[in-house]
Formats: sequence, structure tokens, C-alpha cells
Amino acid sequence: MAFEIKATGRAVPQRRVSNEELAKKIDTNDEWIYSHTGIKARRIADAETASSDLGVKAAWNALEMAIERGVCTEKTPEELAATIDMIVVATTTPDFYGCPSTACLIQNKLGAKNAGAMDISAACSGFIYGLETAAGFLSVGTERKRCLVIGCEILSRFIDWNDRRTCVLFGDGAGAVLLEKTSAPTEGIGRRGLLRTILRADGAGSENLIIKKGGSRNAYRAGDVFEFAPFIEMNGRAVYNFAVRAMTEIIKDLLEAERLSIDELRWITPHQANARIVQAATKRLNFPSEKFFINIDEYANTSAASIPIALDELNRGERLKSGDLVMCVGFGAGLTYGGNLIVW
Ligand code: ACO
Repeated sequence: MAFEIKATGRAVPQRRVSNEELAKKIDTNDEWIYSHTGIKARRIADAETASSDLGVKAAWNALEMAIERGVCTEKTPEELAATIDMIVVATTTPDFYGCPSTACLIQNKLGAKNAGAMDISAACSGFIYGLETAAGFLSVGTERKRCLVIGCEILSRFIDWNDRRTCVLFGDGAGAVLLEKTSAPTEGIGRRGLLRTILRADGAGSENLIIKKGGSRNAYRAGDVFEFAPFIEMNGRAVYNFAVRAMTEIIKDLLEAERLSIDELRWITPHQANARIVQAATKRLNFPSEKFFINIDEYANTSAASIPIALDELNRGERLKSGDLVMCVGFGAGLTYGGNLIVW
């Protein structure tokens, strides 16, 4: 029994905001942003778009790919949507806090009438957690076959656009994968699908990346004077150190657990938080930088969406072929971190 990614999709807002455009509004410049982060631009959603809207688009994109590539017997994306057993949505920026889940909104818009739906709250590691959760769900219950795993974010709405230390880092976007239980082997020649996942957390670092306002700790009340704005606050240096350590640890542990060498991996697809984090981890591991897929220059940090967006770019760009080994590595608020090792 294997859990295979059969199709991928993505959706990003049309509006591209370059570093130069940001520099007209706040005290920053392209040189600083690019040299410190690798970011050149980000996509920003219009005021009417919420996370579920991007998530739905990315999901249709994946379902359309499944039909076009003939990986299922259904003839239309709508027919395929009706066969989904579970929709797992990773998001830090849900349409609504608490309830309803963004997954339920997406389930309704897709017409996925036979699917359960739930959100995962693991910030930038959300897709890593979501993929393992979906595979675990499919592994029990013989009648279950397909899950959609979606990462979708509108981070631009939780950013203080006057805080140059954070606002230059983030963007909006969504990515989705169609995960299917198949009879392919998971060992030996011809093995396919999700081989192994590591999920870890370090809640002691929770204050290093936090949205303080809006939850049960600091709930909104009528007549509130805002003590904390509902914006992302970050201890950049602490997050940087954690991220390099987390990425290095997960890559090493996954390779060791499967007795693999770096040469056997086609791609490492890290969470796109900062190109410097990836470069520092690459140096520590002494791995060739060409193994690491980077697209942060165009999209900035899209949190839970960054890994599925990257997978879709690789997949559509024909840079992944059947049998390739891919490692996804995530790290983020919580603090959470983890990785999935996948045979494409
Ligand atoms: N433009 C121009 N100057 C800036 C900007 C900016 N956008 N932001 C900060 N500066 C200035 C600071 O004011 C400071 O100036 P000063 O020395 O005169 O006081 C100087 O640049 C250095 O600031 P630092 O904060 O020390 O810069 P640092 O080298 O630590 O880089 C950064 C900051 C890029 C945020 C880094 O800490 C980092 O990458 N941290 C990881 C955070 C991250 O990736 N977060 C993403 C979310 S978390 C996740 O996805 C895991």
C-alpha cells in the first residue's frame, strides 16, 4: 500500500509587488531585501480574496491536472472532487479564527460532497504535517482512497506594513496535492509514494514567531484599545538560528533513517522562508546547492503554501519524473518542524 501524489496545483494572486515598489512606501531597498532574504517580489491578494479562495483555485488546478494526465478514471474535475475522502488544509491565516475551518469552506466550494474536512495549525510546517495526517487517514479504512492536501495563506493581512523587519518577508499563495492510496510497493525497485515523515516541535520557542491578538489569550472585546495589533511579530535572529538547525537536523535524520545519501535525492524542497537559511543549512551539511529548489525570489514566504507551490512548479516544469526521490523540509511558528521523503 503506497500513498502517492498523483497531481499538483497552485494559485497565486495576480498582483506582483516588487522590492522597488515596497521601497517607495517604507524605508527599505531592493539591495537589502535581496541580500538578506533572496526575495525580489511577492504576490498580494486583493481585498475580496481570502485563504479559502486561493485554496479552492489550487485544488481545481490539481484536479484538472489529474484529469489531463489521465491518472484517474473520472472524466471531469467535478466528478473527481466528489470522490475525495478528506480535505486537509494547512493555514496560518484561516478565513475565520476558530470556526468554521477553512477546509470546510473549500469542501463546499469544490462540491466534495463525500469528503471530511479539517484544518492543520502548524504554520510553515503545515504542509509537512498535513501530508502525513492525510496518509495516516488513508492507511486506516479500506474504503478510503483520496485526499486533497492544501496549503493556503493570505499573510499580507496579518502583517504590519509599517514594520520593515517583517513586511518585506511574506506573500500570499496556495498549493495543493492529490494524494491517493495505491497498490504500488513502498520498498525495493518500483517503490512509490510517501516513504517516511518526521514531525517535531519546540513549543519553548513559541514567542519567537507569534500573532498575539485575537485568540483566547488576548481576545477582542467591544471598545478595545489595541494593546497588540493582530500582526505577525518575529524575533528574526532566533527564528533564523532555529530554522538552520531544524533544516539540518531533519535532512540528516531522514537520510539516515532510510540509509540514503544526498546523491540519491533528486530534490530537497525546503520551506521558502529565506534563501540565506537554505544556504547556511546547505553549507553545514556540505551538500551541493543545486539539490535545493528555491523560488522565494518570486513569491517570498507563503508559509504553509510554499512547499506545495514549489512541488507544483517542479512537477509542471517536468523537473520531476516518476521514481525521483524528493525531500520536503518545513520549519516555522510553534515552533514546528519536519520533513517528508517521497518517491515521485
Ligand atoms: N530594509 C532595510 N533595512 C532593514 C530591513 C529592511 N527591510 N529590515 C531590517 N533592516 C535593518 C535593521 O534595522 C538593522 O539596522 P541597524 O543595524 O541600523 O539597527 C539591520 O538591517 C540589521 O537588522 P537585523 O534584524 O539584525 O538583520 P538580520 O541580518 O538578522 O536579518 C532577517 C533579518 C532577514 C529577518 C533575518 O533575521 C532572518 O532571516 N530571520 C529568519 C526569519 C524568517 O525567515 N522568518 C520568516 C517567517 S518564519 C518561517 O517561515 C520559518
